[in-house]
Amino acid sequence: MPKTKVFVTRLIPEKGLTLIRDFCDADIWQDELPPPREMIFERVRGVDGLVSLLTDKIDGEVMDAAPHLKVISNMAVGVDNVDLAAATTRKLPVGNTPGVLTDATADMAFALMTSAARRIVEGEKYVRNGKWKTWHPQLLLGADFVGATLGIIGFGRIGKAVAKRAKGFDLRVIYYDPSVPSAFDAVPVDLDALLRESDFVSLHVPLTEETRHLVNAETLNKMKPNAILVNTSRGPVVDLQDLYDALKSKRIFAAALDVTEPEPLPADSPLLELDNCLIVPHLGSASKYTRDMMSLLAAQNLIAGLKGERLPHCVNPQVYD
Ligand code: GLV
Repeated sequence: MPKTKVFVTRLIPEKGLTLIRDFCDADIWQDELPPPREMIFERVRGVDGLVSLLTDKIDGEVMDAAPHLKVISNMAVGVDNVDLAAATTRKLPVGNTPGVLTDATADMAFALMTSAARRIVEGEKYVRNGKWKTWHPQLLLGADFVGATLGIIGFGRIGKAVAKRAKGFDLRVIYYDPSVPSAFDAVPVDLDALLRESDFVSLHVPLTEETRHLVNAETLNKMKPNAILVNTSRGPVVDLQDLYDALKSKRIFAAALDVTEPEPLPADSPLLELDNCLIVPHLGSASKYTRDMMSLLAAQNLIAGLKGERLPHCVNPQVYD
């Protein structure tokens, strides 16, 4: 019996690919860069299933180019790259990969927070550039953790995992998330109070119309001058021009970004000239085990959809109503 056809938009880890190849006739995009839009249209034409990544824009046009499509499996927890309304109208279940990347992403948020606070990247550049001449009592002084306040915006799985790590650093944890009225070990506050009181602000919201440019000139102006902003959520949650102004004028102490708008950040971005801005290339879930598990969940979602079964992790369960 011929296998069902699927398109996988990049070489994902073998853990998931093995399962996909066993069940499907898989067309796998091999390039390092994502398939251009025209190529997506071409490759989805005869497929029953699609495995996409956060770099692929999957909108109604793509869905219409694939008349046999039964399932979209996005290998990410965030699904802002998929037009969910368009998928739901077409009765197409969309899968994501929650849970398995919670710890890796919380670890990255903490790594960025400690690196920015203790000026690790500046120090490393200092050594490499041959500037280290002596121990100096005033060299590259950073921020302390014990007794400081961490403000978490978005208190879902990853926000809570960051709060758990913060306890080990003796931080006081407050959070802003209207959908979580109370928590065992963190204090809910409104957004203004969080911005006013926090020494560290860490973002853990999905990208939606409400959270786009949530961090902008107005919100940055409410932060403490010693504040450190960490973003491991989605780039467009922060207005980068406003952040640049705040960092350049030392309105806040530092920022550490795993995500930017756009991605990749252009090599001539003025942010790259600032010593108080640390940027890494969207590595939140980039640990070997985590990516293996993400590929496995993506494969399981795909195969369930192809069999007409409910996806283990479906972000638009309305399709089953
Ligand atoms: C990564 O950013 C994800 O959403 O999984």
